[in-house]
Amino acid sequence: MDFIHRPRRLRRTESIRRLVRETKLSLDDLIYPLFVVPGTGVKEEIPSMPGIHHFSLDLLMCEIEELVELGIGGIILFGLPESKDEKGSSAWAEDGIVQRACRRIKSEYPGLLVITDVCLCQYTSHGHCGVIKDGYVQNDVSLEYLARVAVSHAQAGADMVAPSDMMDGRIKAIRRKLDETGFKEVSIMAYSAKYASSFYGPFRDAAHSAPQEGDRSTYQMDPANSNEALREIELDIKEGADIVMVKPALAYLDIIRRVKDNINFPLAAYNVSGEYAMVKAAAEKGWLKEKEVALEILTSIKRAGAEIIITYWAKDVVDWLKSN
Ligand code: PBG
Repeated sequence: MDFIHRPRRLRRTESIRRLVRETKLSLDDLIYPLFVVPGTGVKEEIPSMPGIHHFSLDLLMCEIEELVELGIGGIILFGLPESKDEKGSSAWAEDGIVQRACRRIKSEYPGLLVITDVCLCQYTSHGHCGVIKDGYVQNDVSLEYLARVAVSHAQAGADMVAPSDMMDGRIKAIRRKLDETGFKEVSIMAYSAKYASSFYGPFRDAAHSAPQEGDRSTYQMDPANSNEALREIELDIKEGADIVMVKPALAYLDIIRRVKDNINFPLAAYNVSGEYAMVKAAAEKGWLKEKEVALEILTSIKRAGAEIIITYWAKDVVDWLKSN
């Protein structure tokens, strides 16, 4: 060739850049997490997650109204119960915090996609995601309880349940129980490749769910593993998951891409609390620009292959995309 290849031609103006842009973030991709607490009149900012609040149900409804107006299509609910015990029984109480929230939200906003996080850690006195015997988190007994939690959420009107406990066989146990109790249409988003990550730190402050002793490495995945993520995802698909997830997102973009390339299935990624908090903290110090960095992170998650992104930035993204 006697001329220079000039890729810069397609970067010359914003309108050309828009035309050839390969990844476009959309509001349709996003799910917004919400934390519901007992009481009334509560709207308290979570210190380690600026902009994210604990809501009592009355004020949660105001927040939901705002989200619906903004055009956010889906939320994922986390509850902080009034009481905890060894088994986490407040997680499947008919009048439990998430169950009440779900009923109310679905009665007022039937069109809003309501997903519930299914786990025991916020509800157990020891803070683990399953029940403990002889100092070890027991798998098979925990399945029974997790299935009860999922059914109680379905009874309250949840469209989708999202088990985040990482016990073996939970998708099968939950799918079977949902089918038996008449909830064949309730879908399951499985936290399939969920790593034992320190990026969950701010969430555990927010959800009061840090384990009292030990850590979660006997059930959540080793951050060093990649092949295992594919195995976990294949298992969850076989057991009946409708959507699979990689979590966290930012330090695991390679996993997202690998799953996308190897497995043809709806894929979600969780842009977790630590990923949010570190950008917030740096932005507060004036060290980087929150909007630009957040959009870059979210775009990278989508570019890596996630179709669905759970993110604490969902509300901000609405404004950001408008002004872009
Ligand atoms: C509950 C659960 C956790 C998150 C979602 N569901 C915490 C954990 O496993 O310790 C983390 C979410 C976040 O960090 O934003 N098992």
